Amino acid sequence: MKAEIIVVGKIFNVTQAKLDREFNCHKLYEAADKPAFLKALAGKVRGLATFGPSGADAKLMDALPRLEIISNFGVGVDAIDLAAAKQRRILVTNTPDVLNECVADTAMALVLNALRRFPQSETYLRSGYWATRGAYPLATSLGGKTLGVLGLGRIGEAIAKRASAFGMRIRYHNRSKKNVPYAYDPDVVALAKNSDVLMVATPGGAETSKLVGAKVLDALGPEGFLVNISRGSVVDEPVLLRYLKEGKIAGVGLDVFEGEPRISPEWFGLENAVLFPHVGSATVETRTAMGDLQVENLKLHFAGKPVRSPV
Ligand code: 8YV
Repeated sequence: MKAEIIVVGKIFNVTQAKLDREFNCHKLYEAADKPAFLKALAGKVRGLATFGPSGADAKLMDALPRLEIISNFGVGVDAIDLAAAKQRRILVTNTPDVLNECVADTAMALVLNALRRFPQSETYLRSGYWATRGAYPLATSLGGKTLGVLGLGRIGEAIAKRASAFGMRIRYHNRSKKNVPYAYDPDVVALAKNSDVLMVATPGGAETSKLVGAKVLDALGPEGFLVNISRGSVVDEPVLLRYLKEGKIAGVGLDVFEGEPRISPEWFGLENAVLFPHVGSATVETRTAMGDLQVENLKLHFAGKPVRSPV
C-alpha cells in the first residue's frame, strides 16, 4: 500500500514523477478549496512534501492530525514552523550537502560579477556604447581582497575554498569558532569591518532576521561589497537599498530577496547591484539530487527506517 502524502507546491517535474511512483500524491496547490481539500484528506495523510518558500505552518500541521513527516526540498527550513513540528512530534527532513557545490558556484559568480561588473559591461556592449563611448570603466579586482563569510557552514566552506583559489583572503563569523585555517571574528560588525566582501551564508529564520543592517553596512564601508545567497530576511533590505543609492557601500550581488519572487521594484534601477532570481541550486543535476533525497527521506520513514537527513 502506498502512503498518502500531500505535495504543498509545484515542484521539479522529475521529482514529482518519482513521488508519484512511490506515494499517493495529493497536490495542495491545485485545490480550489484548500480547507475542504485538507478536511477530506485529514484521516489518511501521513507525509508532506514541501519546498523552500512554501514551508509548512502550524495551521497546516493541525489540519493533518496523522502527519508524521515533513520532507523539504531544499536545505533551508526557515519557512517550516520547526517548534510546532517538534511539539506535534512531526519529523522534519531537508536536503543538505547535495547542493553545496552549486550554491557555492553561484556565490562566486555573484562575487565576480559584483566586483568586476561583467553583467553591466555586457549591457554596455549590447547597447552599442563600446564604439561610441569607448572602453567600459575599470572595475575592482578579487585577488588580495578579503572575503568575510557570515555563516561558515557546509556551503560557506565550499565558498571559502573557491574564493581562496581566486586569491582572496578568508575570514568568518559563526556562533562558535571552528577548526579551520581562516581568521575568526567574534561578531558580524567586526567581520564586516575586516572584509572587502561580506558573504551572507547563514540560515534564515527569526534568529538571523535583519542581522545585516545599518551597523554592519557602515562597518563594511563605501568600498565594501555585500553578497547574499542565503535568505533575504537576513538583510535589512530598505536600509541596503538606501545605502546603495547613497553610495554608502560599493555594490551587491544578491540571489535572495525579501518577499521573492515579487521583489521591490527599487532593485531594477540600481546600477551597482547584480541580481539573480534565486538560482543558487538551480541546475538539473543538483535539483535532481535534492529531489532524490527528499523522496528517499519519505521512503525510509514509511519503511520504518531512520531518515538520511533529519533537521
Ligand atoms: C532552493 C534553497 O531554491 O535549498 C534551499 O534552501 O533556497 C534553494 O536551494 C529552494 O529550496 C527550492 O525550493
